[in-house]
Amino acid sequence: MAQSTTATEKYDYTIVKWFSVMTVVYAIVGFLLGDFIAWELAFPALNAEIPYITFGRLRPLHTSAVIFAFGGSALFATSYYVVQRTCKARLFSDTISWFTFWGWNAVIVLAVITYPLGLTQGQEYAETIWPIDILITLVWVAYFINYVGTLAKRKDKHIFVANWFYLAFIITVAVLHLGNNLQVPVSLTESYPIFAGVQNAMIQWWYGHNAVGFFLTAAFLGMMYYFIPKQAERPIFSYRLSIVHFWALIFLYIWAGPHHLHYTALPDWTGTLGMTFSLMLILPSWGGMINGIMTLSGAWDKLRTDPIIRFMVVSLSFYGMSTFEGPIMSIKEVNALSHYTDWTVGHVHSGALGWVAFISFGALYHMIPKLWNTRIYSTALISLHFWLATIGVVIYIVSMWVSGIMQGLMWRAYDDYGNLVYSFAETVDAMHIYYVMRAFGGFLFLIGGLIMAFNVFKTIRQGVREAATATA
Ligand code: HEM
Ligand code: HEM
Repeated sequence: MAQSTTATEKYDYTIVKWFSVMTVVYAIVGFLLGDFIAWELAFPALNAEIPYITFGRLRPLHTSAVIFAFGGSALFATSYYVVQRTCKARLFSDTISWFTFWGWNAVIVLAVITYPLGLTQGQEYAETIWPIDILITLVWVAYFINYVGTLAKRKDKHIFVANWFYLAFIITVAVLHLGNNLQVPVSLTESYPIFAGVQNAMIQWWYGHNAVGFFLTAAFLGMMYYFIPKQAERPIFSYRLSIVHFWALIFLYIWAGPHHLHYTALPDWTGTLGMTFSLMLILPSWGGMINGIMTLSGAWDKLRTDPIIRFMVVSLSFYGMSTFEGPIMSIKEVNALSHYTDWTVGHVHSGALGWVAFISFGALYHMIPKLWNTRIYSTALISLHFWLATIGVVIYIVSMWVSGIMQGLMWRAYDDYGNLVYSFAETVDAMHIYYVMRAFGGFLFLIGGLIMAFNVFKTIRQGVREAATATA
């Protein structure tokens, strides 16, 4: 990999390059797994009766691959880039940076080995068994030290707002990880949580919801606050709003977890509290979205010519949409229909594909040519990626909305005598066509990802060649 550009003497770009490349690799792996399990849901025979590739084992592999491998690598790459650029300082320690890189990748490889073998803790988004959890803790502490150490070395007094979001993500994820993994080991691969029953469920969804709030939201907002102004070549619309956005968001998110446990053994008042905070969350979420979109005022013409800006604007639109939908779904009466149905899966992917993946694509396309000191290989291919991904997401979420609402309505339909109108098998049959549609939408999204990988590969090769010619 090319080592030196003028800025690499001042900044550690090598670590950012490696994390960026891994982001692209894990994007493909995660999307491929997602699409495969989507086809499996439509055609269960695809598991060929091999236990290692059944839906139940590959599903956590998909969620971990996209959230922690793809999303995590994108966050390591961009946070290391942003903290150096905004602090005008090199990362605190090269050794710690490499420890986070190899440690994080080791966690991912261990997850890939253990999940298909059926070795998991059985807690969603926290499936890794306890020895891996310890490794995650070590990597995370190292990440925190590296980040804060770099902030301490900054040349400016001011700390740019993107760093606030990244730091909140690092600190909160540490607290969540420790809180939800308080387990008593009974063997090398098995352990039991110290909380039991409903307390365990509450802790799990305090973790689960804040994994969404801090991993999939706050950190990617950090990305948004740096890369959108940079790509648009405009200052943030309102710096003051970004600070209000920050404090309101982190204060409100942490209380909303019980909306995942409506109508369960959890006391009813806890659900009401979670719902109330979820509804209030519309305000900071939309404040942030408006701040991002208004940053483009005066630069709207770029939407016609710059597909990277298009990725960013569409990501904000999906962010706005999923943070409107989420609070609505947290209302108990709405949740009574949506819970357990594909509506939730549609909501997840409008956030995950539309917001998280789109803003990451935008950031990668902005950052990669800069890291290798070259131009992007093909803007036309970015445009093609944009359209394939957009059409793919729309097909995915529309099919899940229709399937989910239909599923919920069929389950609760009863006749004049109080008997259920539909059997469970009839609901499964009715969903089949939407499962095929979703898998097709996912396929388009995956093809878009492969086009991005090709474009990134060609850009890097071009950068390496140009550097070699310049030094010759
Ligand atoms: C090609 C793209 C993708 C496809 C086809 C896909 C497909 C799927 C499928 C079929 C499921 C299982 C749904 C079920 O249990 O009924 C799933 C779950 C999930 N996926 Fe994806 N996915 C994709 C990308 C992503 C990305 C990029 C993310 C996150 C950044 C993501 C996050 C999740 C999460 C969190 C779940 C669990 C949802 C829940 O428990 O409700 N997916 N995905
Ligand atoms: C104001 C913001 C949001 C609120 C209030 C919210 C609310 C909700 C609600 C009520 C559910 C359904 C819970 C259930 O019935 O089990 C849910 C599920 C989920 N949401 Fe959101 N949401 C928000 C934003 C987002 C965003 C931006 C993302 C992704 C980037 C996201 C990812 C998820 C995931 C992964 C789940 C499924 C969890 C699971 O059951 O495995 N949410 N959300």
